[in-house]
Amino acid sequence: MGAVLCGHDGRRGFISHLAVESGSRRLGLGRALVERCIGALRESSIDKAHIFVFAENDDAVAFWKKIGWGERSELFMLSRYTA
Ligand SMILES: CC(C)(COP(=O)(O)OP(=O)(O)OC[C@H]1O[C@@H](n2cnc3c(N)ncnc32)[C@H](O)[C@@H]1OP(=O)(O)O)[C@@H](O)C(=O)NCCC(=O)NCCS
Repeated sequence: MGAVLCGHDGRRGFISHLAVESGSRRLGLGRALVERCIGALRESSIDKAHIFVFAENDDAVAFWKKIGWGERSELFMLSRYTA
């Protein structure tokens, strides 16, 4: 019903691809998946984690803020293609 990827680079955690199927949302599954990630990171002595969210994904932004994540307006994301 839901999935998430989580890892770390030895200092910071990175969570990505969180998704809960549309018929199972608003039941606490998204929060539970994130809490599993946070717990595992804590066990690895990682005390902070990041998530990238498309700015227009209003639902996701609302979700992350509701469960206690804060916006990092001082950061600017840069990307490039490898080909
Ligand atoms: C974002 C997503 C994972 C949330 O999953 P979920 O299982 O519905 O979230 P939860 O039920 O655990 O919600 C946790 C809290 O966030 C709130 N919340 C969830 N979606 C919300 C929304 N769209 N707007 C406002 N609040 C929301 C819930 O009400 C809940 O608050 P509460 O504990 O006070 O009741 C889900 O909507 C989803 O899969 N979206 C599509 C994929 C996506 O955009 N993923 C994020 C990529 S960064």
